[in-house]
Amino acid sequence: MTFSRVSIVIDRSRPVPIAEQISSTLRSAIIEGRLEPGARLPSWLDMATQLGVARGTVKVAYETLADEALVFSAGAAGTRVAEKPACAPIRSEISIPRPLQDIERGFNLPPLPFQMGVPAQDAFPAKIWARMRTRAVRDYATAPVGPLDPRGHPELRAQIASYLAISRGIRCVPDQIFLTNSYRNGLALALLTLQAHGRTAWMEDPGYPMARKGLELSGLQPVPVPVDGEGLQVARGVALAPDAAVAVVTPGQQAPTGVAMSPARRRELLAWAAREDGWIIEDDYLSELKLSGRALPALAGEDPFGRVIHIGTFGKTLSPTLGVGFVVSPVSLAPRFGETAAFLTPSFNVTTQLALASFLADGHYLRHLRHMKSLYRERRDALRAHLGCDFGVEAMSGLAILMRLPDGTDDVALARRVLELGIAPFPLTPWYIDERRAAPGFLLGVTNIRKGNLEKACEALRSLVGRQMGEAGHLRISQKIVVSA
Ligand SMILES: Cc1ncc(COP(=O)(O)O)c(C=O)c1O
Repeated sequence: MTFSRVSIVIDRSRPVPIAEQISSTLRSAIIEGRLEPGARLPSWLDMATQLGVARGTVKVAYETLADEALVFSAGAAGTRVAEKPACAPIRSEISIPRPLQDIERGFNLPPLPFQMGVPAQDAFPAKIWARMRTRAVRDYATAPVGPLDPRGHPELRAQIASYLAISRGIRCVPDQIFLTNSYRNGLALALLTLQAHGRTAWMEDPGYPMARKGLELSGLQPVPVPVDGEGLQVARGVALAPDAAVAVVTPGQQAPTGVAMSPARRRELLAWAAREDGWIIEDDYLSELKLSGRALPALAGEDPFGRVIHIGTFGKTLSPTLGVGFVVSPVSLAPRFGETAAFLTPSFNVTTQLALASFLADGHYLRHLRHMKSLYRERRDALRAHLGCDFGVEAMSGLAILMRLPDGTDDVALARRVLELGIAPFPLTPWYIDERRAAPGFLLGVTNIRKGNLEKACEALRSLVGRQMGEAGHLRISQKIVVSA
């Protein structure tokens, strides 16, 4: 159908509802000025007859445009184009770069083999979770709703306090716990609470790139402190920046080397914090999922001075889509954390919090962790066996195999190229601050390696990495990255 300078064509083979096809053509014509302000649209009946569609369909299309204030009903004078369209045309040439382009391959994408930071998707306890969620939504619908506790729902905070006592050796009261939506969110909460902008912060080198970004964004200057077989070299930190405000560490399993911080280093670090009024931020990201041996107790559980801020998340054990993490504050800082939380409201999804509280209370979480550990062990072993001696497989870094590449390899560029083959290993050099120390390599996440994709993933890795290096025999998997200065 054609009227004025508008031509409407209905394509019944498209999966787009007919009313939407009509409204979208009219919308473009109004925005582009082909239908001028005040112009009268054909009546519902005329348009319906001409297009061979129901009258109600045209009515829906017109109502959509009226909701967008692009047209209005002028009674007997029919439907007319609004005098001034409510919104200016969207300029399609505007393109805003998405964040984290140098770190993440994209957002909201299904995980590829070797991708890190995503738990096994096929092992998410969907049935139990759905039951817990349904119950939480029902209960919450009849719960009193006043201002929400900015620290998070008390039931979940109480459950986390019990869980931490049993599993991580931390003794704390629920009022020391602040719910967040991720580790990063917890770090932001902690850094805002500490008000340490302008000061320095020890950062493990290599260490989690997002933590470094977080420090920088919060106005702190990260000081790279090398890591060796015992964890962060405290003496080097003292030599480099004795008066640092903060030390960000991963004592349970250093990320990315997988090293557990030795008891001596733990004592040294706690002593430094007590002596210098420093704060230790403990990123407990992978500690519960230690695949060999027992998980070490959290540093916060060994802290007699009240200097450790402990951060955990359910993102790596259940799913990042739940958006639940937590901070355990030292008693002395808890009131300040409370104020910051009241400002930031870092946790707001109460029904998820209640569902998670039941999940913990009913014992599902500990069972789930046990199951995940054995599943990840299986996946790791299968991957090791499959990579075989071509890669000299031998090491774990948390839930990833650490594969070193020969010096001089551009691991970032190589990681981008292997993406085209449908695999997403994470390059190692972005984990370093001090470029002189940076060693190229790949972290091969094992969490989503299954029977169905294992062979293809290894083949893809072998083809490109092997070709790049000439001889696959050059490749090594190392137990530790040698990072002493
Ligand atoms: C060491 C470490 N800490 C924290 C995180 C991220 O936690 P979140 O996504 O909850 O911010 C990651 C993610 O890979 C990590 O490797």
